[in-house]
Amino acid sequence: MSGIDLFSPGQLGDISVRNRIIMAPMTRNRATFEGVPTEMAVDYYSQRSSAGLIISEGTAPCAIGIGYIRTPAIETAEQMAAWHRITAAVHARGGRISLQLMHVGRIGHVANRVLQQPPIAPSAIRAAGQIYTDSGMQEFPVPRALQSSEIAGVIADFAAATHRAIAAGFDGVQLHGASGYLPMQFLSTGSNHRTDSYGGNLNNRLRFVIETLEAMIEAAGSAGRISLKISPAMPFNDIQDDDPVATYTALVKAVSPMRLGFLQVLRSDPLPNIFEILRPLYQGAFAAGGGFTRESGNEALRRGTADYIVYGKLFVSNPDLPQRFAAAAPLAPWDAATFYAGGAKGYVDYPPLSSGPGR
Ligand SMILES: Cc1cc2nc3c(=O)[nH]c(=O)nc-3n(C[C@H](O)[C@H](O)[C@H](O)COP(=O)(O)O)c2cc1C
Repeated sequence: MSGIDLFSPGQLGDISVRNRIIMAPMTRNRATFEGVPTEMAVDYYSQRSSAGLIISEGTAPCAIGIGYIRTPAIETAEQMAAWHRITAAVHARGGRISLQLMHVGRIGHVANRVLQQPPIAPSAIRAAGQIYTDSGMQEFPVPRALQSSEIAGVIADFAAATHRAIAAGFDGVQLHGASGYLPMQFLSTGSNHRTDSYGGNLNNRLRFVIETLEAMIEAAGSAGRISLKISPAMPFNDIQDDDPVATYTALVKAVSPMRLGFLQVLRSDPLPNIFEILRPLYQGAFAAGGGFTRESGNEALRRGTADYIVYGKLFVSNPDLPQRFAAAAPLAPWDAATFYAGGAKGYVDYPPLSSGPGR
């Protein structure tokens, strides 16, 4: 038993946090079509600043990394200025916030972004399924396979975006290595059929993620500002790996000596014991997410299954989640219909506990 609970202060690499409650990265589709966060996002994030650490919604490092309609990027001066307003508002309330860099790879559609070029991926293998566009659901397109000579440029996009994120006031930057997007497309046997040094055997499949993390560390000036999110065996976005335990065991062993701020692991149904498998392999701060409650979060911290707990949907509908947990207060249910709907409803109108019922 560790003696640590959700309200113990902590240290996530370079970031001091006032509790062990991390707000999960969540795409909310409320940016402009050009990928600029709006003033409403300033309210949304500052309402949630009592989290030990907020992780932003997935944000594209460059225009081709945008996959979903009205999701943000951090490439232009206008996008950076908007993010700066958000980080300043969170800091003014004593909060901490990291940016999540999300490059969708093959999970995108030209209808959803300004840049009219086909999506890129490790291999020209389309994901089964459809994606929302304003003119209706569309099949995922066949992506263009990256040439070997282009990969350094994609990694450089992540590094440049990391640099911009730190300049915009973020306390840290996370590589989204989960949920079937570009880094996970490199990691997974089903989407990576490359024959160069970025595909084929296991070490080659890990290379893109390792090199991207190294480039992000250099851009941030410190490994303690960088984190990685993974979701071993998660089938979302038609991602498939022949042996996820082997893939992620090797990845976590390779990442462990890098001294990142933290490693975030999202548990998925196919591997319910993934924390127990990976935790012993990782020497730094370990953040666990996926369906946690107040009780199961405290239990995981007490047992040492994780050092930090990540909460997603509960933070959508409970902006003051740490205060509610502390008071053992009732939790408001989330409305999944407004997750991606646009507008204030279901975004900035969930009241805090202190305002009482009916506001
Ligand atoms: C509306 C919504 C949007 C999400 N968007 C992202 C995202 O942009 N990046 C990411 O890494 N995970 C995303 N996720 C997954 C969450 O970060 C989290 O891992 C997941 O919701 C499980 O945690 P929970 O059970 O506490 O909600 C999203 C989840 C939801 C509900």
